[in-house]
Amino acid sequence: MGRIGRLIESFFNDRSVRNVSVNLGADNNVDIAHSQPCNEDSLPLPNDFVVSVPVEGEDNIAAVGYVDPTNQGESSPVQPGEKRIYSRDSSGAIVAEAHFKADGTLYIKSKQGITVDSSNGVRIIGTVIVEGDIAATGDITADGDVKAGAISLLTHTHNYTTPQHPSAVGPTGVPQ
Ligand SMILES: [Fe+2]
Repeated sequence: MGRIGRLIESFFNDRSVRNVSVNLGADNNVDIAHSQPCNEDSLPLPNDFVVSVPVEGEDNIAAVGYVDPTNQGESSPVQPGEKRIYSRDSSGAIVAEAHFKADGTLYIKSKQGITVDSSNGVRIIGTVIVEGDIAATGDITADGDVKAGAISLLTHTHNYTTPQHPSAVGPTGVPQ
């Protein structure tokens, strides 16, 4: 029969393998192997629930899953069919998250900024709407037009009459 306990701490054993110390009730504390899905790297926090099952062999109990207890309450925003991945600080507060919503949207939120690092660049297929300023350390290029208000960079004109300047170079009126 499996058991549900509370995490005390995680640590490396004498073979440099990640283990977790789990309280299974009363003074029943056990050290068992930390397990997680393939291609995922995460660690639970103290007081998270630990689901453990008996197994054959020398280490006869294994952790097969963890639950953040705050997700058990009504504060969790996850609806049926959704998935949310997040990190927590040492107090358990969520500080970065990706929420895959049932309405088809993907919501990404971070308290300390988001960095996308790719030596081959970032391609976004679709229109980008920025609610704030844009800054670049390099050049900005566009196949299409660039507009500031109603002024088109491609098609705006200048008044060369006021002030008048017959030479090739000189002051003009503002872009029109
Ligand atoms: Fe101009």
